[in-house]
Amino acid sequence: MEPSDWWRTAAIYQVYPRSFADGNGDGVGDLAGIRARLPYLAELGVDAVWFNPWYPSPMADGGYDVADYRDVDPVFGTLEEAEKLIAEARDLGIRTVVDIVPNHVSDRHPWFRDALAAGPGSPERQLFHFREGRGEDGELPPNDWQSEFGGDAWTRIDDGHWYLHLFAAAQPDLNWDHPRVRSEHESILRFWFDRGAAGVRIDSAGLLAKDPVLPEVDPGAGVHPYVDRDDLHPIYRSWRAVADSYQPARVLIGEIWVPDTERFARYLRPDELHTAFNFDFLARPWDAEALRESVDTTLAAHAPVGAPATWVLCNHDVTRTATRYGRTDTRFDFAAKAFGIPTDRALGLRRARAAALLSLALPGSVYLYQGEELGLPEVEDLPLDRLQDPMHARSGGTDPGRDGCRVPLPWSGTEPPYGFGAGESWLPQPADWAGLTVEAQQRDPESMLALYRAALRIRRAGIGGDFAWLPAAPGVLAFERGDGFACVVNLSAAGAQPPAHRELLLASAPLRDGWLPPDTAVWLRRW
Ligand code: GLC
Repeated sequence: MEPSDWWRTAAIYQVYPRSFADGNGDGVGDLAGIRARLPYLAELGVDAVWFNPWYPSPMADGGYDVADYRDVDPVFGTLEEAEKLIAEARDLGIRTVVDIVPNHVSDRHPWFRDALAAGPGSPERQLFHFREGRGEDGELPPNDWQSEFGGDAWTRIDDGHWYLHLFAAAQPDLNWDHPRVRSEHESILRFWFDRGAAGVRIDSAGLLAKDPVLPEVDPGAGVHPYVDRDDLHPIYRSWRAVADSYQPARVLIGEIWVPDTERFARYLRPDELHTAFNFDFLARPWDAEALRESVDTTLAAHAPVGAPATWVLCNHDVTRTATRYGRTDTRFDFAAKAFGIPTDRALGLRRARAAALLSLALPGSVYLYQGEELGLPEVEDLPLDRLQDPMHARSGGTDPGRDGCRVPLPWSGTEPPYGFGAGESWLPQPADWAGLTVEAQQRDPESMLALYRAALRIRRAGIGGDFAWLPAAPGVLAFERGDGFACVVNLSAAGAQPPAHRELLLASAPLRDGWLPPDTAVWLRRW
């Protein structure tokens, strides 16, 4: 494979900068902390790192409210440090993917400030979606659109006009019909590509285009007024032209929540995005038939467009795998998030180990969210007054929000901050994480970290060739890759017999008399 095709098979590690490592001891992770820990990522064996936003931001939504796309927030460091980080990572063989947020800006972004100051009808307001309200005095929002974080997607300002925000009120949506919005974002892409970024992750990539009439959402209409609209495709074709103008070509990765797999695959046509996150797989329960179906529909949808599939188990927006898989309902669903759902931690971890081997053996690229390699659980008992996620606040306090998967990583030692930094971290870490630190897991050959390291090493050395299911008992997933490699995952309650093999490469738990106990996965060499 050409090195420029690296993204087809890459293992990409997601760093949430606030919570990875704190270099200056202020309780918030930063670029200095990440730079100091790059050897850890090299040793883990990942091909690339995707960084969540590090731009100047009031942090109304963890940095997804960007005030300046061409700089770094002082809490994280400086632009110069980001450039050094990209170069140092490259020296260790790790590519950098930066997060681009095109759907909205921060309400402190100069464009939005100018728009507020310039008043109704001004060219400055054309960059956003400003409208008059409904009702006698315009006291009702212009339409019924709801924020992804709950509540109205409109906020009224002093002069009586309303502006659209599909997320928090501090994240006004840009008007993608405006040529300046388009040219600005192409320039932002170039800015980061010029600094050595190997690619970009495109935030909320399915939401940019809006029906200019801003009609009410009508489930019977067939076309949604702002999700997955056809006019998105020309935008990404022009982005692809920018990415392809670099040597080596840069890579576009879409965050696209579109349930229809055929519509999803349209974004991955050869002149559009390279890959997109597979949220279908992420949301599936720990169930053999459900996962098999997801693998089949994923591979079938990607094949006609020639794009590689991606496999994702969790990220900074969803419940951590080790917690979700220990619950009675093992699906992920934003709407079902609630406080106090019981989980069996040992069971969740056992399944997360098996799921790691499953996702790392499937054809395509794979994403690994920081802490997943440590088997971290969701922190579900954070003090309410420390929660920062607008999803929690905008739900009226019923949704726990996403802070529980964003708690700073434990590196070493036996008590908080576990080597994350010097003082108390921005979200408090649990008192019982001493056994989960990198330091502790490095000493333990049975640890989750040891499993991930071994799996990534084997994957790098080569798992390739065509994918094919092997015959298996009910509740068991077994498949081979063309090169003699096989993966067997037992999701049933009974033992499972692996197919004939020459070598057992890796197991997520010890076998019993050569059989896989429940919730166990193995990697085999068949010939
Ligand atoms: C994406 C991000 C999420 C953010 C939202 C708004 O879904 O992953 O964290 O809140 O976009 O930018």
